[in-house]
Amino acid sequence: MTIELSLYDPALTYSGQKQFDCGHATLNAFVRHSLKPQVKKHLSVAYVLTDAAQGDRFVGFYTIAQHMVDVSALSALSLGSLPRKIPCSRLVMLGVDQRHQGQQLGSKLMRHALSLTREVARQIGSFGMYLDADPLAVRFYQRLGFTLLEGDRTPEPSPMFLPLSGIG
Ligand SMILES: CC(C)(COP(=O)(O)OP(=O)(O)OC[C@H]1O[C@@H](n2cnc3c(N)ncnc32)[C@H](O)[C@@H]1OP(=O)(O)O)[C@@H](O)C(=O)NCCC(=O)NCCS
Repeated sequence: MTIELSLYDPALTYSGQKQFDCGHATLNAFVRHSLKPQVKKHLSVAYVLTDAAQGDRFVGFYTIAQHMVDVSALSALSLGSLPRKIPCSRLVMLGVDQRHQGQQLGSKLMRHALSLTREVARQIGSFGMYLDADPLAVRFYQRLGFTLLEGDRTPEPSPMFLPLSGIG
């Protein structure tokens, strides 16, 4: 496997970042134009997949940030008594280049994001991971254990959550 996962460095130039195409226009525009400034401002942290066989080409990424959800948003999970504000991690964006989809790279990124969430929980507290799933990705996240918080809101993004207790 020539694909490596590493922390995105906004000071570097990644080959292929400006041509990134995961088949999702909003995510493509984000990677091409907003990823670097957003990470520079510490609004999120990004991890990237680069392919050494293609000159370290940018082939996938996710961004993650701290987040807070109201406990009422988690009622679908029947978690018992909890405070009103719940600290968690938020997976903000996730994408894999179209040519590399179906090669378990999205899963690799998610395993890394979930292990980071476990680490953050140990260090500063986090009840789990929140995300707003694109309609086409809801099933992908369900397979990882995420629950739909308000049902499937297609064509809008659907809020989903995976508590720390469900992160293996
Ligand atoms: C969603 C995405 C990140 C998945 O990445 P990927 O590398 O293709 O996924 P993987 O190869 O790791 O797939 C893991 C498993 O999930 C399944 N899967 C992948 N995408 C899926 C989807 N959209 N719906 C249902 N199942 C999906 C795969 O078939 C695979 O199953 P298997 O383990 O039985 O073979 C990728 O398709 C993508 O970038 N999509 C466009 C952008 C997007 O929708 N991002 C999410 C925004 S919230």
